[in-house]
Amino acid sequence: MKWQVREVLKSDSFGRVERLGDEEGNSLIRRVACGARLPMSGLVARYLMGRERRALAALDGVAGVPGLVQTAGALQAESSNGTAPRQSEVLVREWIGGKALHHARELPVDFFDHLDGLVSELHRRGVCHNDLHKEMNVMVGEDGFPWVIDFQLASLHSHRGRTFEQRARDDLRHVQKHRRRYTRDGRGPASAGVRHGRGHGLRRGGVALVWRKTGKPLYNFVTRKLLRTSDGEERRPSTGPWPRWTEAVGERSRSC
Ligand SMILES: Nc1ncnc2c1ncn2[C@@H]1O[C@H](COP(=O)(O)OP(=O)(O)O)[C@@H](O)[C@H]1O
Ligand SMILES: [Mg+2]
Repeated sequence: MKWQVREVLKSDSFGRVERLGDEEGNSLIRRVACGARLPMSGLVARYLMGRERRALAALDGVAGVPGLVQTAGALQAESSNGTAPRQSEVLVREWIGGKALHHARELPVDFFDHLDGLVSELHRRGVCHNDLHKEMNVMVGEDGFPWVIDFQLASLHSHRGRTFEQRARDDLRHVQKHRRRYTRDGRGPASAGVRHGRGHGLRRGGVALVWRKTGKPLYNFVTRKLLRTSDGEERRPSTGPWPRWTEAVGERSRSC
């Protein structure tokens, strides 16, 4: 089967994200962590891609996380510049037909319940996402179920110590913040809104506070000012338009 690059979805100082397609209309997503002209950007890009690979491997089979794909034709397909990327710089994963959360026009009323469940499943597998405040990293599948992408900042935890607990709580807090933003002030039905007593309040954990004061400004400086990455924190404007709420999608069938 011949795979070709159909579009470049994103390009920044870490490299690019491409959508590949074959003759039968199937798609895959390929990250090319080649860096850019900035010294060390390739090294940083490959390090982040390695984190993503480990997280996706640990989450293999979770419905709502695109699986790693080893199809040689996709790994080796030529990029639009006519050359095949180095194999140490590529990661191919399943494609999700759907939209990023901030572009979704419709949301099932149980969307955020499913997203909560999905993020809890990540944690059961010992993975914290650590970048869920970005609406771009949450996708709404064509069937209305949530997907989580972009595991470059994810961490794997073999034991549930304090760091794990705080990061897991922060992941859930970010979901709760999205839920609140999408449902408050009449933007969504009460049934889709924040549940009380669900066990994860909005309080920021200690590690998150330290990260916000020190790590995050440094990370933002490196990624935005030095590497000039473009995604920032793209999100739905407060003025809307907000999604139309549709019927609950109910139980999600488990993949493999
Ligand atoms: N599996 C996927 N299916 C469909 N679109 C995807 C998929 N993975 C990424 N994308 C699209 O590509 C964009 C960039 O991918 P992402 O993994 O978030 O890269 P980055 O780490 O550079 O932000 C996403 O915002 C999304 O629009
Ligand atoms: Mg992203």
